[in-house]
Amino acid sequence: MGGVEVDSSRTESRWSLEGTTALVTGGTKGIGHAIVEELARFGAAVHTCSRNEAELNECKHEWEKKGFRVTVSVCDVTFPSERQKLITTVSSLFHGKLNILINNVGTNKTKPTTEYKAEDFSLLMATNFESAYHLSQLSHPLLKASSAGSIVFLSSVCGVVSVNVGSIYSATKGAMNQLTKNLACEWAKDNIRTNCVAPWFTTTPLAQPYSVEFKTGVCCSTSRKNGCSNTSCKCYKFS
Ligand SMILES: NC(=O)c1ccc[n+]([C@@H]2O[C@H](COP(=O)([O-])OP(=O)(O)OC[C@H]3O[C@@H](n4cnc5c(N)ncnc54)[C@H](OP(=O)(O)O)[C@@H]3O)[C@@H](O)[C@H]2O)c1
Repeated sequence: MGGVEVDSSRTESRWSLEGTTALVTGGTKGIGHAIVEELARFGAAVHTCSRNEAELNECKHEWEKKGFRVTVSVCDVTFPSERQKLITTVSSLFHGKLNILINNVGTNKTKPTTEYKAEDFSLLMATNFESAYHLSQLSHPLLKASSAGSIVFLSSVCGVVSVNVGSIYSATKGAMNQLTKNLACEWAKDNIRTNCVAPWFTTTPLAQPYSVEFKTGVCCSTSRKNGCSNTSCKCYKFS
């Protein structure tokens, strides 16, 4: 994704997602929005959700103009009943089969650990981890029925190394990394691949509150290259 020039005509002839189905949570903004477009561009039929109906309809309208096959529905993934309703909708739209589940929704509140309240813990755990866990469980029969299932979790670099973005957020991403390993082994027999990606700072609404200095500091402290600087850091932007 972003930052690398790709010859689209060549890519299209090399591989395609025509005939496949995908669910991307949180597709109205940021990374989720970019994933919806990428999957749809490769020919997948995509369903996405968020909490804001007006934004969903705006995005749907734009996607229709681009010729993408994308359906939308409102879902707050922090509620188990809404997660169940989402998967019922997806099952009905895609005739009981799902090839790709992108567990993208995530949120954050950065505070010193001593200042977090129980409600912060509940919100971040429910949004970032519990929802992804439950949606994976609910999607399992659909992914299995497709005979070629794939789950991708949106983790973060902070689930691997210590980055000063908040201990709860980081713990949700660390948990997600371990869940990826478990499901990869447990569900391989069902022809379901499980992976996660761990982005660095990516310019999206979620990352917007962090200052440029803060982001550069994180990039430098987590770069594999010694002497990483602004010019050697690649900052990808998804609007
Ligand atoms: N941006 C980064 O630097 C970065 C770095 C590492 C990892 N990540 C991870 O990448 C993923 C995407 O991040 P992003 O930066 O693209 O976030 P974002 O810009 O805030 O977009 C989040 C998307 O999820 C939706 N959403 C949020 N809470 C929801 C809920 N409870 N139920 C349903 N939809 C919800 C939002 O729409 P509504 O708010 O309208 O519901 C929006 O469409 C997250 O898991 C994040 O932790 C991001």
